[in-house]
Amino acid sequence: MNPSTEDLYLPIEYTGDLKKLQQKEQKAKMKYNIIHKHLLESTNTTAAELAAGGAEEFTTVVADHQSNGKGRGEHSFFSQNGLYMSVVIRSADTAVNATLLTLYTACCVHRAIRKVCGFTAKIKWVNDIVTDEGKLCGILCESYFKPGSDKIDYVIDGIGINLGEQEFPEELKNVAASLVLPPQKLEKIKIKLCKKIIRYLSKYQSKIKDRSFMNYYREFCSVMDKRVMVSGDGEPYEAVVMGVDDDGGLMTISKKGAKILRYGEVSIKPENTLRSE
Ligand code: BTN
Repeated sequence: MNPSTEDLYLPIEYTGDLKKLQQKEQKAKMKYNIIHKHLLESTNTTAAELAAGGAEEFTTVVADHQSNGKGRGEHSFFSQNGLYMSVVIRSADTAVNATLLTLYTACCVHRAIRKVCGFTAKIKWVNDIVTDEGKLCGILCESYFKPGSDKIDYVIDGIGINLGEQEFPEELKNVAASLVLPPQKLEKIKIKLCKKIIRYLSKYQSKIKDRSFMNYYREFCSVMDKRVMVSGDGEPYEAVVMGVDDDGGLMTISKKGAKILRYGEVSIKPENTLRSE
């Protein structure tokens, strides 16, 4: 194996764990550029304005509340209490697209919640973080292109996590969930969560290129091996989930045959049984 240029610059007597050393160096170097506001219309909108003005990669806009939180597909995102954050990603690398970034973000948020709050949630394809009670977190990656080009200029990676007591509106009562935390610790936990997420996100280039995060995604994917209803792909139909491919496609089998879903929505059928039964 040819040594990499990094190997060549190592002191001759070095015998330690290179990966650990690199991680330590990265940890020491990470500086956070977090802009925190009590209330914003949408952190994604503010972050996009900052990015258009030249804000650096990983600049993060955080709000405790949003008056007009944006959700996927023109939906709004209920943002009463929680961690609402948007991170500027500036990758010119075509291997990094918004879909993969979304999947990777789901893994980062899932891992950060585990680490900081000690709670293991599930990842619902494509990118919701869920508990048995409902949706805990939504992710919205918005891509902005260089003028007159199909090259991405920046992506705004928006994350909304419901934290603390919530008064969900009637239509969300059965579908949304919140992580209830001790009120006196809420602010500290929010900051810790936010920083952990940014730290994990900062590794996106290499993790997305080699798809090493996909095994984590599969391990915590809530629909794996489940009978589901597929919607958003013509007439709703029933299918069984066989896996998730390396590009985040949901591998399914239905009466129509095998299909890899690249978009759409799946919901777990209540009478679920494992596919081997
Ligand atoms: C979805 O599940 O529909 C995606 C929701 C994404 C919500 C977050 S909250 C922080 C950021 N700012 C927004 O306006 N939206 C995203």
